[in-house]
Amino acid sequence: MSDFPPGFQFGVSTAAYQIEGAAEKDGRGLSIWDTFSRTPGTTRGGATGDVACDHYHRWESDLDLIQELGATAYRFSISWPRVQPTGAGPANAAGLAFYDRLVDGLLARGIDPLVTLFHWDLPQALQDLGGWGNRDTAMRLGEYAELVGEALGDRVKLWVTLNEPYIHLVLGHVLGVHAPGQQLGLDLLPVIHHQLLGHGLAVSALRRVSTAPITLANNYSPVWPASDAEDDQTSAMFYDLVQNRLFTDPVLLGAYPPIVEGLTTADIDSIVLDGDLQVISQPIDALGVNYYNPSLVGAPQPGEDLPFHRAETIPGYPTTDFGWPVVPSALRDLLVTLRDTYGEKLPPIWITESGCSYAPVDDQFRIDYHAGHLTAVREAIAAGVDVRGYCAWSLLDNFEWAEGYDQRFGLVHVDFDTQERTRRRSFDWFREVCTSAAPRPDLQGGPTG
Ligand code: FCB
Repeated sequence: MSDFPPGFQFGVSTAAYQIEGAAEKDGRGLSIWDTFSRTPGTTRGGATGDVACDHYHRWESDLDLIQELGATAYRFSISWPRVQPTGAGPANAAGLAFYDRLVDGLLARGIDPLVTLFHWDLPQALQDLGGWGNRDTAMRLGEYAELVGEALGDRVKLWVTLNEPYIHLVLGHVLGVHAPGQQLGLDLLPVIHHQLLGHGLAVSALRRVSTAPITLANNYSPVWPASDAEDDQTSAMFYDLVQNRLFTDPVLLGAYPPIVEGLTTADIDSIVLDGDLQVISQPIDALGVNYYNPSLVGAPQPGEDLPFHRAETIPGYPTTDFGWPVVPSALRDLLVTLRDTYGEKLPPIWITESGCSYAPVDDQFRIDYHAGHLTAVREAIAAGVDVRGYCAWSLLDNFEWAEGYDQRFGLVHVDFDTQERTRRRSFDWFREVCTSAAPRPDLQGGPTG
């Protein structure tokens, strides 16, 4: 693994609601995930993030683990309702102070803080006003970005505005299996557009107060048509546009792919106002790529409402505990496709998430997963794609949304009864990867500037 370009960074990713716990501490407000997970029948075993990994209290020893791993980057998210309990107004000083300590703690350990502003935990008060369906939520994200940027912008090394707006759209607003639990049919353009507008306004706000580079993290999945039949091909093309281009074309090209017309019953011009696409498409410094698996897609099956059918599994590939197929070569294909699709408009790429659910502590499966995906990244780099870093999802086993605590993605195992952390075998393996990386030529391994 030592043949990555000098300065290529290895890191780990987490998200606030999945690890922090301390749901009622220091003035934190309610998020949509508190409301959703506390509603009976929404998560496996009735799990909530009330305690999660108790990272809010154990952050110092958790940062020690990252340092021990030799990772030079840590991507975490900020809980919006910790900073703004109702999603508006001045910052809650105690909430912001937690992230201030966290950032300083990372820098003291030689680890770059990569900070996600929105990883799905919208303040409930904003949901009560319509959530992402309400244009005002985008303005609120811009204001929140400015508060966080003012407080941390002198030390953060990479901003990530949104995490996976596509997954938040589909699981939270179409299927209703994630917070806020909505099923909006095909009237989706407001939720799509306001997330993207929020991204753009966050970029504007961060530019005013911080010089750190900015990205957003999209979830990408190469689409494999189920067959050569025309209806399968048509459905696969539609699916590709929705998952892979709907949240990228507006940012990098300043235009929506044409499918957007089918995603609203209202007049597009009443949602996408003059000037919005300019705000959304202002330059960003990197593109965050979250990758887990490709998608096998065919025509809808009888009784299905959506215009496609995405297969649960892909025959012939190993699957994780989640049942997700493991296809490392599809990551290389994805990176090359992004380069071919966007050409000069594509900024450098960060792999902001990749990982697998696999429970055992002796986890050769996870080692093989990351080794395969790192090989795919190297192949993409050899093919000329500019990739700057790879963050493994995740440092710790955590609250895996609707799946509760059953799906375990951590390099570190967590016993949720005792909060004991146990390094998995993949932790030791990933440490070898991190510590064999060539330092930046200019900085000789110090924190990036
Ligand atoms: C991604 C999410 C992340 C985690 C992984 C497994 O879609 O961004 O929070 O749940 O999947």
